[in-house]
Amino acid sequence: MSSSSSFTGGGGGYDMPWVEKYRPTKVVDIVGNEDAVSRLQVIARDGNMPNLILSGPPGTGKTTSILALAHELLGPNYKEAVLELNASDDRGIDVVRNKIKMFAQKKVTLPTGRHKIVILDEADSMTSGAQQALRRTMEIYSNSTRFALACNTSSKIIEPIQSRCALVRFSRLSDQEILGRLMVVLEAEKVPYVPEGLEAIIFTADGDMRQALNNLQATYSGFRFVNQENVFKVCDQPHPLHVKNMVRQVLDGKFDDACSGLKQLYELGYSPTDIITTLFRIIKNYDMAEYLKLEFMKETGFAHMRISEGVGSYLQLCGLLSKLALAREKAKAA
Ligand SMILES: Nc1ncnc2c1ncn2[C@@H]1O[C@H](COP(=O)(O)OP(=O)(O)O)[C@@H](O)[C@H]1O
Ligand SMILES: [Mg+2]
Repeated sequence: MSSSSSFTGGGGGYDMPWVEKYRPTKVVDIVGNEDAVSRLQVIARDGNMPNLILSGPPGTGKTTSILALAHELLGPNYKEAVLELNASDDRGIDVVRNKIKMFAQKKVTLPTGRHKIVILDEADSMTSGAQQALRRTMEIYSNSTRFALACNTSSKIIEPIQSRCALVRFSRLSDQEILGRLMVVLEAEKVPYVPEGLEAIIFTADGDMRQALNNLQATYSGFRFVNQENVFKVCDQPHPLHVKNMVRQVLDGKFDDACSGLKQLYELGYSPTDIITTLFRIIKNYDMAEYLKLEFMKETGFAHMRISEGVGSYLQLCGLLSKLALAREKAKAA
């Protein structure tokens, strides 16, 4: 893999976060989201980058893609021809008016078809005032300077910016895609593991590669061995087996057992949000009748809504279990 071989960081790199150590440096090495990645590859090859908005959930490669693209387009000119502004930098109206404008006015000699690039990471956290100022700068300097914005939700970018940009959508990575990347890192770092440990990492990451790599590294540095047990200790999420048991008990008509299982989790200190998030994922993958699964998901969705509105009590979760039990009764009678 060129991404791992192109890494030149210090020695064993023992203190380096793996998310950085194994961040792909070329667009081709970015895993998943084939449509998005191939569009970016065309731009990397042909130049003339349009203004871009990359949007999608965290840990799917948006920042990585922009950085790789800018490096491929500008090579040795990267330093003087790229302005990177992260969420931690001040990006209020004044910065847009001054810093970005000054950069846009700066003369840099580039090959034809190449432009200076302003990278605005997590652009959805910019105020709409700053975005308005940005939009004008974008317009005035479009001959020499292009913008690449990354965000979780493109709807938080003001309409006039959206309409000046090509939108590239990213979605969660599949379990297979995450597994593939984990294997590369496992091999390079010589991490001992059992397959169930990887399954646990993939389960907790839920399509987020950053989370997967961080959980892998945390498990390894804490226990030197990746198995299910260690992963759930490190990730501090309810153990899926425990939650799965609750679902099975409901399906077996053992409502009281399900409730006491829930009580145990609650007393271990897991928040209702943690519990219900895991519960939903378990139900989604549970081998059960389609009709019943849909009912279960519906009820879990409603309970999730009540919890996120603030009613996150033990009673609320028990109420959900009873709704699930009733749905099962109804399905059996039908
Ligand atoms: N599609 C991907 N392919 C390979 N590695 C990825 C991918 N997405 C994320 N990563 C890993 O996770 C880290 C964080 O990714 P990043 O691009 O910053 O995500 P975000 O979409 O939140 O901007 C990267 O440094 C890289 O190690
Ligand atoms: Mg990012």
